[in-house]
Amino acid sequence: MALDAAALHQIRPMSEEDLDQVSAIEAATFPDPWPRHALAHEALRNPFCWAFVIGPEGSVAGYAFLWVLYEQAHLINIAVAREQRGHGFGEALLVHILQYARAQGGEKIHLEVRESNEAAIALYIKHGFEVLGRKNKYYSDGAPALMMEADITRPRPGPKERSGG
Ligand SMILES: CC(C)(COP(=O)(O)OP(=O)(O)OC[C@H]1O[C@@H](n2cnc3c(N)ncnc32)[C@H](O)[C@@H]1OP(=O)(O)O)[C@@H](O)C(=O)NCCC(=O)NCCS
Repeated sequence: MALDAAALHQIRPMSEEDLDQVSAIEAATFPDPWPRHALAHEALRNPFCWAFVIGPEGSVAGYAFLWVLYEQAHLINIAVAREQRGHGFGEALLVHILQYARAQGGEKIHLEVRESNEAAIALYIKHGFEVLGRKNKYYSDGAPALMMEADITRPRPGPKERSGG
C-alpha cells in the first residue's frame, strides 16, 4: 500500500522499538556516534530530554534529541537516514522541535554544528538560527563547531506555511 505524505511525515516520541533503527542511522551518520545505551538513556530515562522520530509507524527515517532546561533549550542531535535526505524530513523534525521547545517554556535554543556541515547550517539559518561563535577543536577529529542560537519566543511558520524566500 502506498503511503501518503502525511503518513511519511508522521512525528512521534521515540520508543524502545525505534532504538535499533535510530542507532543504525546514528552509526552510519556520525564519525563519533553515540552508542545505543546512551541513545536509550537520553530517549527513555533523561527527564530533561525529549526525543522524536519521523516516519511511518514502525519505520524511522530520522530522529532528533532535544534538551529543555527551563528557558534554555538545546538541540542535541538531528539526523535523517542518508537515503531519505532531501525530502523534507529534517525540516519537519526541526519545526516540530522548535514548536515543542517553545511549548515547554523555552525562550532560546542553542546547538553546535560542524563548521563544514553546509546542509545542516542552511537548515538552521532557514529557521531563524544565527551564529553566536566558534569552538575550535570541538569534535574528536579536531574539527571546529559553530555555536548557533535561535529565539523561540515567537511562533515561526512551518515549512508548508512559508511563502517564498
Ligand atoms: C541536516 C539534515 C538533518 C537535513 O535533513 P533533510 O531531510 O535532508 O533536509 P530537508 O530535505 O528537510 O531540507 C530542508 C532544508 O535543509 C537545507 N538542506 C538540506 N540538504 C541540503 C544540502 N544538501 N545542501 C544545502 N542545504 C541543504 C536546505 O535549507 C533545505 O531547505 P530547501 O529545500 O528549501 O533548500 C540531513 O542532511 C542529515 O541528517 N545530515 C547528517 C546529520 C547531521 O549533519 N545532523 C546535524 C548535526 S548538527
